[in-house]
Amino acid sequence: RERLDGRPCRQRLLVVANRLPVSAVRRGEDSWSLEISAGGLVSALLGVKEFEARWIGWAGVNVPDEVGQKALTKALAEKRCIPVFLDEEIVHQYYNGYCNNILWPLFHYLGLPQEDRLATTRSFQSQFAAYKKANQMFADVVNDNYEEGDVVWCHDYHLMFLPKCLKEYNIKMKVGWFLHTPFPSSEIHRTLPSRSELLRSVLAADLVGFHTYDYARHFVSACTRILGLEGTPEGVEDQGRLTRVAAFPIGIDSDRFIRALDASPVQDNIRELAERFKGRKVMLGVDRLDMIKGIPQKILAFEKFLEENPDWRDKVVLLQIAVPTRTDVPEYQKLTSQDRSLDFHALCALYAITDVALVTSLRDGMNLVSYEFVACQDTKKGVLILSEFAGAAQSLGAGAILVNPWNITEVAASIAQALNMPADEREKRHKHNFAHVTSHTAQEWAETFVSELNDTVVEAKLRTRQ
Ligand code: G6P
Repeated sequence: RERLDGRPCRQRLLVVANRLPVSAVRRGEDSWSLEISAGGLVSALLGVKEFEARWIGWAGVNVPDEVGQKALTKALAEKRCIPVFLDEEIVHQYYNGYCNNILWPLFHYLGLPQEDRLATTRSFQSQFAAYKKANQMFADVVNDNYEEGDVVWCHDYHLMFLPKCLKEYNIKMKVGWFLHTPFPSSEIHRTLPSRSELLRSVLAADLVGFHTYDYARHFVSACTRILGLEGTPEGVEDQGRLTRVAAFPIGIDSDRFIRALDASPVQDNIRELAERFKGRKVMLGVDRLDMIKGIPQKILAFEKFLEENPDWRDKVVLLQIAVPTRTDVPEYQKLTSQDRSLDFHALCALYAITDVALVTSLRDGMNLVSYEFVACQDTKKGVLILSEFAGAAQSLGAGAILVNPWNITEVAASIAQALNMPADEREKRHKHNFAHVTSHTAQEWAETFVSELNDTVVEAKLRTRQ
């Protein structure tokens, strides 16, 4: 097998995620225009030379007719993407319902929905049924496209049921699963009505990965306390079968950001912004418009800072970018698809001119905005204020000012500290974080996970033989 550039390829990698890395717009009955969205995962896998990645996922659009489905499948194939078609009802129950109204808030410590108990119980059941059905649909597409020797890498809370479905198809399939959100304390997870079934399905994978050691530990505790299984230093054991559980902190394609800073549109943008905010310090927040990001708390903290430091009132500005997502109101969908990826060059310029970045998520799996900011700051050496409840706190903690985002007084004080920080301290802190961000890249993350998955499967075979 060969890569597009003619070099031989070791292995095919099937990346399965709820959303394909494309935005698809229908132009006619059988024509589609596609745009690849260059998120972290995409750049990570483009950079992995040893694997030829193929994507399997939902294209984010409803395509009820066969002509449209065929045309979209064909267009996607050119981008090495394979669609899973989900109808509106499934999307409503599985994606809006079970994924984003139940699992997402629960995994971020916001608890289960507090509606009328009976109604909740009923919707739990139908939403969980839809979740399983959707996962089975993903499994069908994986199975149709699987070739012996492929590695299958399942992503995120949308697909916790997938490892089990895949192993039911083919026990020899190499299956990894990675969670991009936090995995909460087992005391939180145990409130979920389908807690055991989900844990068991994830355990069907050969390798289970999390951003931080704490999330991995919470998962192992949930398996030991809720399922009564045995936790070992390597993972979880069930009747002699080991599922490896480990931490694989994600990174970004830092070179892409660093290179972009030299591009002339970014330089023009930087000049323009510098002129616009002349004489003022710039503070920046970039978040998806999501309850976990703590945007209201951030604004309150900024307000408090201004109240307590009136001298700063005309000398500082807070820019908050909030990218709308997951809204099913049609008008907002339009807005969302336009705003979804804030122009990359504009974003780099904003990062570069910022003096203080405020990442104050109430909970966050990793938070790569903090990494992107650091990558763009080698000239300015600005300060990162970072929530201790973001996974990134474990890697950028030494360079950032860590805060409890619920403590408005503390965040306000850290804003003052950041704005007044002497240059040598800023430099020292930045240097630490920059070294981390440029050495722990998305590419390295993907390579580590996939090679560990390969090793895990080989080890398991050896064990069985003994
Ligand atoms: C988080 C999740 C991703 C998801 C992204 C955007 O980062 O971990 O799996 O793709 O949010 O959310 P959306 O619902 O628009 O795909």
